[in-house]
Amino acid sequence: MTGRKLIAGNWKMNGSLNANLALLKGIQSGLQAPACDVAVCVPASYLAQCQALLASSPIELGAQDVSQHEAGAYTGEISAVMLKDFGVRYVIVGHSERRQYHAESDNQVAAKAQRALANGITPIVCVGESLSERESGLTEEVVKRQLAAVIHLNGHCISEIVVAYEPVWAIGTGKTASPEMAQQVHAVLRAQLKAATPHSDRVRILYGGSMNAGNAAELLAQQDIDGGLIGGASLKPQDFLTIIAAAH
Ligand code: 13P
Repeated sequence: MTGRKLIAGNWKMNGSLNANLALLKGIQSGLQAPACDVAVCVPASYLAQCQALLASSPIELGAQDVSQHEAGAYTGEISAVMLKDFGVRYVIVGHSERRQYHAESDNQVAAKAQRALANGITPIVCVGESLSERESGLTEEVVKRQLAAVIHLNGHCISEIVVAYEPVWAIGTGKTASPEMAQQVHAVLRAQLKAATPHSDRVRILYGGSMNAGNAAELLAQQDIDGGLIGGASLKPQDFLTIIAAAH
């Protein structure tokens, strides 16, 4: 990859007005000219608060999901245009928790990515195998199928996306993929991107799944690991800062 790494926090369904203020203050007070790009993907209800808190900060704002539809009768959904109103720069699509609990299909995830791109928001497209898929030797097949759905988007350059490899069995479990295991899958994804675009070097492939202050440096040193998508550790200012410092 050419360019800067990206460290993105995924707060998931955590936070409150008070907790967000303390967290962002803590991160910002320890952040001096980071050598990587930094983003926080916050719950939609706190976008306005976080936009204001990040107004003069190098930390960019992200969201955790977006509707595949443009506008209209979709109760409870949030459109890309609405995210744009709050200065959202990144949106996570296809997180395994959405695929699992909301039955999002590869095609829906691709439609969401396309909607984000059409509105100038960079989708962070998540792919990853479950434990049983890994144990059955299906890891490559699964992640390639998930990425292929997005690669075949019409009209937008695939080099504008961010990919996040998040093995489902490593999310929130404290079990991290070893740097070698993660690199192996990242290399597969890189090859797939290379076959799809001459600009594959621009696409950042993040690792996510129990990345923390202790293991980040080793993971981020791998050739095709271009950043991290951090859950639990992104809620602790010092841990998040340590991960950011490891990304250069
Ligand atoms: P954890 O870092 O808590 O394992 O979560 C990873 C994740 O799902 C980020 O999107």
